Amino acid sequence: MGTESHGTTQGGGLWRWVTDRFPIESMLKEHLTEYWTPKNFNIWYVFGVLAGVVLVIQLLTGWFLTMNYKPSAAEAFGSVEYIMRDVEWGWLIRYLHSTGASAFFVVVYLHMFRGLMYGSYRAPREFVWIIGMLIFLALMAEAFMGYLLPWGNMSYWGAQVIVSLFGTFPVIGGALVEWIRGDYFISDITLNRFFALHVAVLPLALAGLAMAHILALHHVGSLNPDGIEIKKEKDARGIPLDGVAFHPYFTVKDTFVLAVFLIIFCAVVFFAPTFGGLFLEAPNFEPANPMQTPPHIAPVWYFTPFYAMLRAVPSYAGTQVWGVLVMFAAIVLLFFLPWLDRSPVKSVRYKGPITKIALASFAVTMVVLGVCGMKPPVGIYPMLAKIFTVLYFAFFLLMPWYSRIDPVKPVPRRVTYHAH
Ligand code: HEM
Repeated sequence: MGTESHGTTQGGGLWRWVTDRFPIESMLKEHLTEYWTPKNFNIWYVFGVLAGVVLVIQLLTGWFLTMNYKPSAAEAFGSVEYIMRDVEWGWLIRYLHSTGASAFFVVVYLHMFRGLMYGSYRAPREFVWIIGMLIFLALMAEAFMGYLLPWGNMSYWGAQVIVSLFGTFPVIGGALVEWIRGDYFISDITLNRFFALHVAVLPLALAGLAMAHILALHHVGSLNPDGIEIKKEKDARGIPLDGVAFHPYFTVKDTFVLAVFLIIFCAVVFFAPTFGGLFLEAPNFEPANPMQTPPHIAPVWYFTPFYAMLRAVPSYAGTQVWGVLVMFAAIVLLFFLPWLDRSPVKSVRYKGPITKIALASFAVTMVVLGVCGMKPPVGIYPMLAKIFTVLYFAFFLLMPWYSRIDPVKPVPRRVTYHAH
């Protein structure tokens, strides 16, 4: 046999044959059995893995939806109805995908909040954070474009509102909107290009970025709820004293939480797939109608905090461009987080009262803005949106100041961990 010349196949079986030709063993070691993970991880550290699982669910269900979906204005809505009623298990595939979109944002928002709490974005993990932010941008684009595909009335008008925001930019606005739509209005052409981006370009970008995210993280190593670098205290073999192998110690914990997550996920898929209009909005069960706007146009819940900030800024001199800029700035600011936090400690556990209050009020701010963005802009909501938009920006822009003056507690050398 030709392989005998390598002298490697004897006695090793198929696994040996493969590992002699592909670095699978060293990869498994580097990323699983010899990836030294801080032993004090808590539940907040599961959301990265859950985000990865949801990404896989979205890719798999998306591919199956694509097999029966028709990306044309004439057929899209009907093809989704066909998937729901006639395709074997089509309703399940579609509800898994639509619920998966919301689940993605739930786990990613919790994942990001963990980062905020424990200073996961601080040096040397700035790159992990920035790649994470690129994932967040790609995810928002992916969700937005996917939402147009069923060609329901909210798909149509939601896209109409959001795409026309680009028209507020001076000079280039009009041309930019036309370029995005590929037409003078949201049309069959727009649907076709959103389809291409949603099923090919952005999923590839997401998968590639997610891989880069893990590679960057494993290069520097994970942080933990104490914000202590475990690589600073190693044993004679060079293994961090506070580290344990990711597999089996965290694979077993993550598998348990994954099971709980999947139970909740399936409960929503089977019993509340529209989630009271939050995950699938009522007007989207009607076909797109350019002649009739839905009674109240609002994006899906995961966009509403940013939508609220957009609406919080009144239009000056007949242009809404300031609101648009504020909304974009709210997202762009997040990229700079690693450089805004000047605290000598990383984790909120050892930070002072100002940071703790700021962090708690930031969580409240996101929820209030989220609610404001869902409601029609009447009554108390416009005022609330203005106040909390200011609070949102204050949290980030004042951080270089309050993170420096906030008294901190001494950080221990080794992580604190109490086995249950
Ligand atoms: C598809 C989406 C994403 C996937 C699959 C993903 C996956 C992961 C995984 C598996 C980990 C290690 C486990 C953990 O710490 O939870 C991780 C860590 C991390 N992620 Fe993500 N992530 C995603 C999105 C994001 C986003 C949007 C951000 C922030 C903008 C982010 C920032 C971070 C940071 C800073 C860490 C390091 C945590 C530490 O070491 O303390 N990730 N990510």
